[in-house]
Amino acid sequence: MQLDQANQDQLRQWQTELSADYQALQQQALNLDLTRGKPSAEQLSLSDALDGILAGNYLASDGTDTRNYGGLDGLTEAKQLGADVLQVSTDEILVGGNSSLTLMYQTVLAAQQFGFGEQAPAWKSEGKVKFLCPVPGYDRHFSICEQLDIEMVNVNMTPTGPDMDQVEAMIKADSSIKGIWCVPRFSNPTGVVYSDETVERIAQLGKIASGNFRVMWDNAYAVHSLDSSAPQLSSLMAACHKYDTVDSVMQFASTSKITHAGAGVAFVASSKANLAAFKKILGISTIGPDKVNQLRHMRLLPNIDALSGHMQKHAAIVKPRFDCVLRNLEADFANSELGTWEKPVGGYFISFDTRPGCAQRVVQLAAEAGVKLTPAGATFPYGKDPADRNIRLAPTVPSVNEVEQAMKVFAVCVKLASVEAQLKA
Ligand SMILES: Cc1ncc(COP(=O)(O)O)c(C=O)c1O
Repeated sequence: MQLDQANQDQLRQWQTELSADYQALQQQALNLDLTRGKPSAEQLSLSDALDGILAGNYLASDGTDTRNYGGLDGLTEAKQLGADVLQVSTDEILVGGNSSLTLMYQTVLAAQQFGFGEQAPAWKSEGKVKFLCPVPGYDRHFSICEQLDIEMVNVNMTPTGPDMDQVEAMIKADSSIKGIWCVPRFSNPTGVVYSDETVERIAQLGKIASGNFRVMWDNAYAVHSLDSSAPQLSSLMAACHKYDTVDSVMQFASTSKITHAGAGVAFVASSKANLAAFKKILGISTIGPDKVNQLRHMRLLPNIDALSGHMQKHAAIVKPRFDCVLRNLEADFANSELGTWEKPVGGYFISFDTRPGCAQRVVQLAAEAGVKLTPAGATFPYGKDPADRNIRLAPTVPSVNEVEQAMKVFAVCVKLASVEAQLKA
């Protein structure tokens, strides 16, 4: 379909044909859901050995009785695993409770209320605070900013990460910009892996920004590749050591999409100075994390090699679903003017950009044909996609057969919404 060249008669004919296809799909009374970026039950079952794995032995490798209070840093062996995942050293990491999102929230709150030592005064003492938000991005990052009254400024994502020319220019021009959200490997939702050059430039932001600027490096999908061809992410911490900017980054990861999503272990990595300041603040609200759960995780996944083997089992379950989405997009939209997408080899999402002004209509049409999609706009700050283009597809929970059915509906909805929009243009 060459929409831009088509006359009104041709467009009306396509609309009639597509409406018939759409109505036929509606007759199937489907009930499918591509909204949930969470592991399927099959994936969760890969870690069911966690249940009972301690068999009464609660002692960590250094003799710590994990049942008792204390150990704000986390267990030594858990720190080693987190350090390997985030490519930092064991004195640059803290192991927390079950959610990295909680650690991110606590970090932003701490930076705003208390600051991170003398070089990093509390943001609230400096008036207005802004964050750069590469878009499309992760809605829960945006919710943290919204709740803490931090103004969000959109930055374009590119196939190599955020548009770094834009990022550097904005930070130079505006000292109220105190942070940037990054999901550097298999970004939510585009699936992009930041290039080596992007990582190098992010590491240097601490040189052009104020001392209390923080890169929020959410490496949620650090080990979630779908095959061995997936691009590697270079170490941000190594680059920060090179440029003497270690205080400017806070890194996060968790086992949420490795073991049991609601009962995992989360990590935060940063400079020793930042961690010391963070621990002082954290220590007011907790005497220590759930070390019993950390130990259970270490018995299941004692080292990074065990973890990699475990992730291959996840990949075997997830990849056919990703392949199905990508195969369908290719079949329906390759070389068309109707949409663009990245082809991620990891993570949990595939992000599709419609023609401008069509995303909300596609989501509505799909819902009315029994296929739930993430609300259009959810991948943008304040829920507003200025071009109304982006749709996040999350194929991990449905079966391959269901993904196939959902993608057939999606294709018709995209085509129909595009024709409708062109008729109105
Ligand atoms: C980018 C990103 N960060 C963080 C999370 C949540 O992590 P956690 O379960 O460790 O809080 C998600 C979950 O979807 C995510 O996509």
